[in-house]
Order: sequence, then C-alpha cells, then structure tokens
Amino acid sequence: MDDPLTPRPRAADVNVATKFPSADDAWRALRAAACAPYRSAGHFAWHFARGKLRIDPVFRHLLREGLIPPDSRVLDIGCGQGLLASLLAESERLAREGAWPAAWGSPPRGVRVTGIERMPRDVERARRALGNRATFVCGDMRELPFPAADVVVLLDVLHYIPIAEQDRVLGRIRALLPERGRLLLRVGDAAARVGFATSQWVDRIVTRVRGHRVSPTFCRPLPIWVRRLKDFGFDVEARPMSSGTPFANVLLVARATAAGGPR
Ligand SMILES: C[S@@+](CC[C@H](N)C(=O)[O-])C[C@H]1O[C@@H](n2cnc3c(N)ncnc32)[C@H](O)[C@@H]1O
Repeated sequence: MDDPLTPRPRAADVNVATKFPSADDAWRALRAAACAPYRSAGHFAWHFARGKLRIDPVFRHLLREGLIPPDSRVLDIGCGQGLLASLLAESERLAREGAWPAAWGSPPRGVRVTGIERMPRDVERARRALGNRATFVCGDMRELPFPAADVVVLLDVLHYIPIAEQDRVLGRIRALLPERGRLLLRVGDAAARVGFATSQWVDRIVTRVRGHRVSPTFCRPLPIWVRRLKDFGFDVEARPMSSGTPFANVLLVARATAAGGPR
C-alpha cells in the first residue's frame, strides 16, 4: 500500500506543465502571493516575509518534496507570523489554477494549519494577514495543549528552551502523531563550528530586529539530535538545509514508527 506521507519520487526540478515556464517561475509567483497578505499586517511584516521567503531554502524544499501531504492537519510550533500557513494557502490556489509544477510532490490541498507562537506581536501579524485561513494560538509550547495533527513542523524553534524541556515537547509530539505521522524539525548543527556560530549570531540580531528579547539558546550536535529522535520512536533522515546561507542548518525529516514512545 502507498504511504500517503512519503513523497513520490520526482524528476529534475523543471517541466512545469502550467502557465509558468519553469519551476523557478512558479516558486517566485507563489512566494509573491504568500507575501502579499502581509501588506495588511504592516510594513515590517511584509518586508520580513519577502526577505525570509527569498533567502530561506526550507520553504521551497517542503513544497517541492511534497513533505506536507494533502488533507493533513499541520501543527506549526513557533510559527512566527505564519509564513508557512500563508504559503500552504497559496499553494492550494496555485494547484487549483493548474499551475503547480509537475515535477514537485503532491500539492498540499485541503491542509488545515494551526500555528502556536509565544509572541503576541507575531500572532497579531499572522491573524491580520491570514484571517481565518489558519488558526493561530498565542502561548508557550511548553504549556499549551497540542491539537491532533498528522504533521508537526518546528523550524528554528526548539533551541529557545532548555534541553530537558525540548525533550518533553518532543515526547508530547510523538504521543500525538499517528503511526507514519511526520515531524519536520529544523535545527542548527552545534558540531558545525563556523556555520553554527554564524547562525547563532544572526539569530540574535533577527530576534532583536523583530522586537523580542534575546535569551540563551540550547543546541545539540546533529548525531545527538538523530539519536534522540530515534529514542522517541522516529525514523530520521537529515537533510542539509542552509543552501544560499552561511548557516549550518539541518532539516530532520522524522517519521513516527510503530514502536512509539521515548526509550
Ligand atoms: C526563529 S523564529 C522561526 C519562526 C518560524 N518557524 C519560521 O521559520 O519562519 C522562532 C519562533 O519561535 C518562537 N518561540 C520561541 N520559543 C517559543 C515557545 N516556548 N513557545 C512558542 N513559540 C516559541 C519565537 O517567538 C519565534 O517566533
């Protein structure tokens, strides 16, 4: 039986049987559409969305690889101003118009997104931009109950809380995911010296620019991350996720196994 959470193999990143001449053009159009709602959320929100979606490779990767399957319930923890939710909403529109790149994984149609975010200012921006196209809950991931989900996304978030608390959050995520449910976790690899130091430095600047207080961070080397996720009952694949940036970020694509539970 086909695993609905496993992306189908893809050809080269070309061959868009659509109104766009190439997958790059489709991505640019999608990016612009996902940024547009942030005009109503203020100057900063719009410019931040444009910069982030242009520079950060992870968003295109998630869509191109079909890592968010159709009809899934997505929980985006530490969602910031809701950029992923905006991209997913616009992806659905692109697919409806028959403009989804043929070489990409299945478009994320019918996806429902809940975002959890600690910073009220970001939640306000997300709600103003996206209205009822996604649900945003303001609070701390360590305290809020998590809704049922098939895919849990944490992009550059866990390092803001101490290691033992990270593990408690991971345990709760594993407990809520169905077998074969997916965790998409991006982390900095603390073993990659220069790239990791650069990302820490930029993280502090961006945190300040976004109007937040800079706090200590808690990071682990990649092999430790992989081992820990396996302990929690995930199959794990690590994908470098910093191309075009000086960072040492890795996307951990983790699938809940039948074994379950922390060991
Ligand atoms: C580097 S930003 C990444 C935002 C988003 N995931 C993205 O990739 O665009 C990290 C986000 O996690 C949020 N965050 C940090 N600690 C959190 C916590 N304990 N509970 C909920 N959100 C948290 C921060 O407020 C911030 O918006």
